[in-house]
Amino acid sequence: MCKIRAISPLCYNEITMKTLKNKCVILGVTGSIAAYKAADIASSLAKSGCDTQVILTENGAKIIAPITFSTLTGNKCITQTFDEAVDYNVAHVALAKRADLLVIAPATANIIAKLACGMADDMLTTTALACTCPKLISPAMNTAMYENPVVQENLSRLASQGWEIIEPDSGMLACKDIGTGKFPKPQVIVDEIWRRIARTKDMAGLRVLVTAGPTCEPIDPVRYVTNHSSGKMGYALAKSAILRGAKVTLVSGPVSLSAFPGIDVVPVRTAQEMYDAVTENSDSYDIIIKAAAVADYTPRSYTDHKIKKDEDGDSFEHGIEFIRTKDILAALGDKKRDGQFLCGFAMETDNLLENGKKKLGRKNADMICANSLRTAGAGFKTDTNVLTLITEDGNESLPLLSKDDAADRIFTSILRKMNEPGKPENEKNE
Ligand code: CTP
Repeated sequence: MCKIRAISPLCYNEITMKTLKNKCVILGVTGSIAAYKAADIASSLAKSGCDTQVILTENGAKIIAPITFSTLTGNKCITQTFDEAVDYNVAHVALAKRADLLVIAPATANIIAKLACGMADDMLTTTALACTCPKLISPAMNTAMYENPVVQENLSRLASQGWEIIEPDSGMLACKDIGTGKFPKPQVIVDEIWRRIARTKDMAGLRVLVTAGPTCEPIDPVRYVTNHSSGKMGYALAKSAILRGAKVTLVSGPVSLSAFPGIDVVPVRTAQEMYDAVTENSDSYDIIIKAAAVADYTPRSYTDHKIKKDEDGDSFEHGIEFIRTKDILAALGDKKRDGQFLCGFAMETDNLLENGKKKLGRKNADMICANSLRTAGAGFKTDTNVLTLITEDGNESLPLLSKDDAADRIFTSILRKMNEPGKPENEKNE
């Protein structure tokens, strides 16, 4: 008998990053058909160490049972305003005081209308009125309902009172209509929550530029030269910086990853396009990290038709000539302004530290994050990395970490360096 076994990849984040520990999130779930998807949100928050308090409206409870949320979060799912089993003096106020964030996902037209006119007739609306923390709302409904001026007016009203609206997706809705109003993927809601409350905002006010992924150098309309870079390290760096409060631009070669919400993504293909995008405004960034695997060579000329094979020959006789691309990191190093921190990557197979140190000097960088393709768990496409952070003052070896954790450690080290006496930040103030 043939057995099929589904194997989930090991998720390091779930093990190492209890990023929402000591945070309390109230998740309001209302009577939209998408309510069942809120279970994934609750589960993800609870796994991140978050004290997740679910308030389910009466109509929400017709779609998904309270026990689902109680089990996933370890907290009793609240459905009644005066629930005796909940151990709070004045339940809605006590909960509102504890919350770091309130998110209502999915939100029906009905709850939006009630909130917009300040009604307080159940546990969710009374709690929402008492909350002074950041408030997110994710509308999900039929397109005609969503586009109805009264719903739009109510949403504008909520926005003007400080609620942040998570725009619904477009696509096929539960009613089989195609249009706007679709509940986003649960991960989108989770990311929006993380962006607001995960991590201390120790990079607030800083502008960060990260490059990621490979470049593709075209030969003809069909073929190009590239490398194995997945972009995972660069995307993790951009995510870490935005979670820590920085304003982040990500110049990315072609990858199959989605950037964390709030990141300004500039897509590029070739080394020249990456050079143009990175050098255009480079002075405006406080920290630039070049995690991209930029092609060192590009075909001298592009053939604008498909190069056909020689039917009789067994070797490729077309003699493609390659020329050097511009070294973007070196160009940034040449024009580095006071107070700017420049960090490059070096992926090596041999003489890791020696090569990394040479790149630090040659490119006038402040840090090189070096990794060896010969080390297990480091390199292309993996979710982990083993890095040595090389600076003028010495090397810092990081253990095997998820790329998210490695990214976080890189920024912690960069911030420490920038704040050292005599280092970029201080030079800026001299
Ligand atoms: N880099 C760059 N522009 C290039 C080549 C590399 O900005 N044309 C950057 C990379 O993004 C990385 C650093 O330089 O941050 C080191 O890249 P790497 O390919 O390891 O080094 P090279 O200088 O190209 O040297 P070599 O390939 O000979 O190891």
